[in-house]
Amino acid sequence: MSTMPTNIQVPADASRLPMTLPRLIEMKRHREPIVMVTAYDHPSARAAEQAGVDLVLVGDSGAMTVLGYDSTVPVELDELLVLAKAVRRGLRTPFLVGDLPFGSYEVSDEQAVQTAMRFVKEAGCDAVKLEGGGSTSVARARAIVAAGIPVMGHVGLTPQTSTALGGYKAQGRSAAAANRIAREALALQEAGCFSIVFEAIPSAVAEELMPHLHVPVIGIGAGPSVDGQVLVFHDLLGIREGLGARFVKRYANLLDEMVAGVAAYAHDVRDRTYPGPEHGYSIDEAELQDFRATLAEHDPGVAHPV
Ligand code: KIV
Repeated sequence: MSTMPTNIQVPADASRLPMTLPRLIEMKRHREPIVMVTAYDHPSARAAEQAGVDLVLVGDSGAMTVLGYDSTVPVELDELLVLAKAVRRGLRTPFLVGDLPFGSYEVSDEQAVQTAMRFVKEAGCDAVKLEGGGSTSVARARAIVAAGIPVMGHVGLTPQTSTALGGYKAQGRSAAAANRIAREALALQEAGCFSIVFEAIPSAVAEELMPHLHVPVIGIGAGPSVDGQVLVFHDLLGIREGLGARFVKRYANLLDEMVAGVAAYAHDVRDRTYPGPEHGYSIDEAELQDFRATLAEHDPGVAHPV
């Protein structure tokens, strides 16, 4: 685990302007690294806001990080919308992207546009993300963009279809597989995606692809040549058990702190050291006497506590 440097400068909240699509393009042009993180609730959104990140993704990874599913496949659109609404309420400046869950966009262009609209209208998202660069995903991306909603693509390891990809593992490790990722990324760009996520592909493959992409590329396990990086909130802060994928860097170990905090509370309750006098409320002595008298009138059998 790396230790958090104490001299990190967080941009002053009031001076930061909301992130926009032109600003993202400008960041790419000026080679300013773009920072993206996932969030799933109000506290994680507030943390992202206060840390000054550029993009926040309400990822379908929330299926696993906060909803306890084994994979991203079972999560329902309505479940992700609840998370996205909570995140929206916690954000002012980052650009908010909602992740279209498995089964909510593949069936038809109409289904994809309707789902994307719910993320925008009900949850206040600025854009949506969908997985895959095959003909179906490209057609859906094109349809959503045509409906006026910005779309982020996602190629390489696409967890919603990881069974078809042979498991949860790095992609593009042969020339043929790397070529497929190239074709998919270019097709998504041509379909109008404003940005593309590269997940778990060799750094050298990402580097070769970069000169061909004029939209910002956000990497997760794609090396340093891309325009920005994304990590899952719970992975980077150590809120979930296990080591996670190779690309995860842990910046904190909050799960240990959470367990220690709850254990200390449980100890104090059992020990009767919590609550202390400072955690209680007082009542004027005369009011208390009055209350006792009324209580005794209603139930003369009850002895007064002294
Ligand atoms: O759901 C998610 O968290 C994602 C990121 C890993 C890009 O898709």
